[in-house]
Amino acid sequence: MPITIKSDSEIEKMRLAGKVVAKTLEYLKNNITAGVTTKYLNQITDEFIKSQNAIPSFKNYNGYPASVCISINEEVIHGIPSKRKLVDGDVVSVDIGAILNGYHGDAARTFIVGKTSIENQKLVDVTQKSFFEGIKLAKAGNHLFDISAAIQDFVEANGFSVVKDYVGHGIGTQMHEAPEIPNYRQNRRGPKLEKGMTLAIEPMVNLGTDEIILLDDGWTVITADKKCAAHYENTILITDGQPEILTATDF
Ligand code: MF3
Ligand code: CO
Repeated sequence: MPITIKSDSEIEKMRLAGKVVAKTLEYLKNNITAGVTTKYLNQITDEFIKSQNAIPSFKNYNGYPASVCISINEEVIHGIPSKRKLVDGDVVSVDIGAILNGYHGDAARTFIVGKTSIENQKLVDVTQKSFFEGIKLAKAGNHLFDISAAIQDFVEANGFSVVKDYVGHGIGTQMHEAPEIPNYRQNRRGPKLEKGMTLAIEPMVNLGTDEIILLDDGWTVITADKKCAAHYENTILITDGQPEILTATDF
């Protein structure tokens, strides 16, 4: 499938969908505290997205049973909400998707409940920073895999590893469009970036090994060494200059 170039009117719709996702993350941030169950967080996410006249895009996607992915500590991505209660020190990755007027937004943040170890705190900071290192290269005329290499270089320079088995993606009228966007170096520079492409860039970073295991629930991805993982994702728009972050939050 070719990489779609969005028209100005499509871009406007992507902005509105992105805004819903950003507002949902902002709302969730204020609700992530010790004692709440991840099921409760799913419930309020679902309600909040619907209150914005949008549709939670993860719900029933390939059979996924919830409106948000909540991945705690050694869980890397796709954690399923449950009766589990958050406790102080948990590293909680929250991934949200919404559809508004037929267009998708997709973003993730990693939050810390109370206080965690210095090591975990650094992991969360480096994961977020790796996204911004990557998107420095995300402009028309550059090549896609320059972003991938920059993310990997930054993460590894800080002593952590990037997950190789899951990747970012194009996004638009579908949650997952071409191209796939790895967070690690390729042996070529990849497709040329053009103005109007919309991409979900999403580094998944592990404290220890990059090896992961898929749990028997068919969704939850954990680190093989059970050390902590973090995730950071935004939907961005390629321009002639720095990309526009369509799911920008103030954190
Ligand atoms: N944000 C994830 C991604 O980019 C989507 C979660 S998968 C789902 O692939 F099944 F929960 F939708
Ligand atoms: Co995504």
